[in-house]
Amino acid sequence: MKKPLVKNARFVISNSDIKKCPNDGKPEYAFIGRSNVGKSSLINMVTGHRKLAMTSATPGKTLLINHFIINDEWYLVDLPGYGYSKRSKSQNEQLEHIISSYILDREAMTLLFVLIDSRHEPQKIDIEFFQWLGENGVPFSIIFTKADKLTKTALASNIASYKKRLLEEWEELPPVFITSSETGLGREELLEYISEVNSTL
Ligand code: GTP
Ligand code: MG
Repeated sequence: MKKPLVKNARFVISNSDIKKCPNDGKPEYAFIGRSNVGKSSLINMVTGHRKLAMTSATPGKTLLINHFIINDEWYLVDLPGYGYSKRSKSQNEQLEHIISSYILDREAMTLLFVLIDSRHEPQKIDIEFFQWLGENGVPFSIIFTKADKLTKTALASNIASYKKRLLEEWEELPPVFITSSETGLGREELLEYISEVNSTL
């Protein structure tokens, strides 16, 4: 029988200060993207634990950096979302600080997965976020979420036009994944990719 890619998954800690995040040097893979794009749901889907990360139908659920340890070997990190306009200015600034300090200063962060809702056209806020990652030399991949909400044709067409938009500014694209937390689509590809990256460290 094929070895399960996730043998065990455990919540470790939530906090707002990267200095207080786990300090054991194990590699981390973090999920970022707009509020409500499906970051926490994807953590649950990938780990196969429906309630490991807290999810919500209303945006702005995740407010801290959340570490989950997988197979006692590597971490999945759930980050707060960006771009939720109904927050106060000071809360948005505080969240932006948490997100940017994690992304720029967290040495254990091996790769950032930027989640994009596959239903929507490229949004300014995401395009600017990709530019900011590029300016800061942050390694990232892209995950299109909520694939179950579209027909196959619409999904393929949206992803093709999204890639085209990115290629206006980028010479080449990082690996791209298509997922659904409802159906489990993309789970193996994502886990295999992380496992490949882990084996190069
Ligand atoms: P914040 O923590 O607020 O930034 O949001 P998040 O990105 O963690 O989103 P979350 O996982 O909480 O999901 C937001 C909503 O989208 C929830 O109602 C989920 O059930 C729904 N959702 C997430 N992923 C999928 C998916 O793949 N398919 C469908 N149909 N719904 C999804
Ligand atoms: Mg969340």
